[in-house]
Amino acid sequence: MSPDIKITAMIPEHLAQVMAIEKASFTVPWSEITYYREITENPYAVYIVAMAGEEVAGYAGRWLILDESHITNIAVAPGWRRNGVARKLMEHMLRSSLRQGANRMTLEVRRSNLGAQKLYEEFDFSAAGLRRGYYTDNNEDAVIMWQNDIAAYLDRKERTNDTHNGN
Ligand SMILES: CC(C)(COP(=O)(O)OP(=O)(O)OC[C@H]1O[C@@H](n2cnc3c(N)ncnc32)[C@H](O)[C@@H]1OP(=O)(O)O)[C@@H](O)C(=O)NCCC(=O)NCCS
Repeated sequence: MSPDIKITAMIPEHLAQVMAIEKASFTVPWSEITYYREITENPYAVYIVAMAGEEVAGYAGRWLILDESHITNIAVAPGWRRNGVARKLMEHMLRSSLRQGANRMTLEVRRSNLGAQKLYEEFDFSAAGLRRGYYTDNNEDAVIMWQNDIAAYLDRKERTNDTHNGN
């Protein structure tokens, strides 16, 4: 559980902490200037952080491309993992994508990254194909995953919550 996590927009002041998580999470990390440009110049980009007080516990980003939402990255600080932080970030991205008129969402994930794939499957993403040798550091394949009906997923989730709440 992560009761004290709050999701807010990523701003330049978050970038030092974001970069520490980025370097701990990816073999080919994005640079700080890339993130800076994403959050200050790219009108199609939406980046969020999961805050535990003043600490950035995790972050995620996406691009809006017509009526599709493309996840660019999601990462959680090693000390915060398996506490539902990524789940909160994902749910927030699904809801905000739908509000922007995107009912479909896609991402690429390393074939070996089974933990992340499990997370995405929880949100109704399913594998739709492979990009062979997509990751140039080790020539690993990317699994392309799609979530094709965000509204249906969120509706179903709300109905399940109502049932659990006895309504
Ligand atoms: C993948 C990542 C974002 C998950 O973040 P997290 O906050 O630990 O994930 P959550 O706690 O919200 O996990 C939700 C569910 O996803 C699945 N999951 C997440 N990480 C997992 C792992 N390492 N192994 C197996 N299942 C995992 C589980 O089903 C989990 O539910 P549970 O803990 O109740 O079993 C995090 O491990 C990370 O930053 N990894 C490095 C960067 C990365 O791989 N990003 C994805 C690139 S596509």
